[in-house]
Amino acid sequence: MLELLIAGMRRLATKFRLSRSRATTRRFGRDLHVGSRPRLWAPERLEIGDHCYLGHDVCIETNCRIGRFVLIANRVALVGRRDHEFRQVGVPVRFGHWVGSKRTPSPHRHDEVAIEDDVWVGFGAVVLSGVRIGRGAIVAAGSVVKDDVAAYAIVGGNPAVPIGQRFASATEIQLHETRMASGTFASSERGFDHWTVRPGQE
Ligand SMILES: CC(C)(COP(=O)(O)OP(=O)(O)OC[C@H]1O[C@@H](n2cnc3c(N)ncnc32)[C@H](O)[C@@H]1OP(=O)(O)O)[C@@H](O)C(=O)NCCC(=O)NCCS
Repeated sequence: MLELLIAGMRRLATKFRLSRSRATTRRFGRDLHVGSRPRLWAPERLEIGDHCYLGHDVCIETNCRIGRFVLIANRVALVGRRDHEFRQVGVPVRFGHWVGSKRTPSPHRHDEVAIEDDVWVGFGAVVLSGVRIGRGAIVAAGSVVKDDVAAYAIVGGNPAVPIGQRFASATEIQLHETRMASGTFASSERGFDHWTVRPGQE
């Protein structure tokens, strides 16, 4: 009984946190969890697909398109690479043109971070706008990602570079995708032991 109550409160907390997000266009999928103290803002668009997890203190301050089955660890930041104009001669950076201005729209207003399905972004990683993280990729904890990440690559460090591959072969990737596509997956705020994790058959 208490467990169900706590699960209900967690669902409400996610709804409340999403309701406080700010962007011209906001689309949030099903079965989504948002941890405490998020900062979810974008000049134009915030899109998060089904079955995603955002940990505590996640900070999104740029347009983003996040796919399905994406795991974003605590303290991850998706930030605008060119949020503030710093090359205006005579203007202190504090007063430089800002990407969120409505009166004088920035050329970088449409920049975004794209994260495809089934990606894990590790604790404390920073991802700059302009980056696309390919399907199935893993970003190691503490990385700073400034370049695109190939599908199923593991990248780490500052700047993030390839440090490994998630699967041993293209055949394994194919099998993973087939099973994932025909599988059934759902999380539960009651805890991991209540989740549905049923990969499909080949
Ligand atoms: C990337 C990660 C998944 C490890 O993957 P792995 O395939 O097991 O990799 P290994 O531990 O064998 O490390 C492979 C190489 O990457 C390096 N590496 C591992 N983690 C790294 C990191 N965070 N930053 C930079 N390099 C890293 C290792 O030093 C190793 O390099 P080497 O071969 O020169 O020694 C793991 O290190 C990680 O960062 N996990 C995220 C943890 C997290 O954020 N948890 C929060 C819960 S949501």
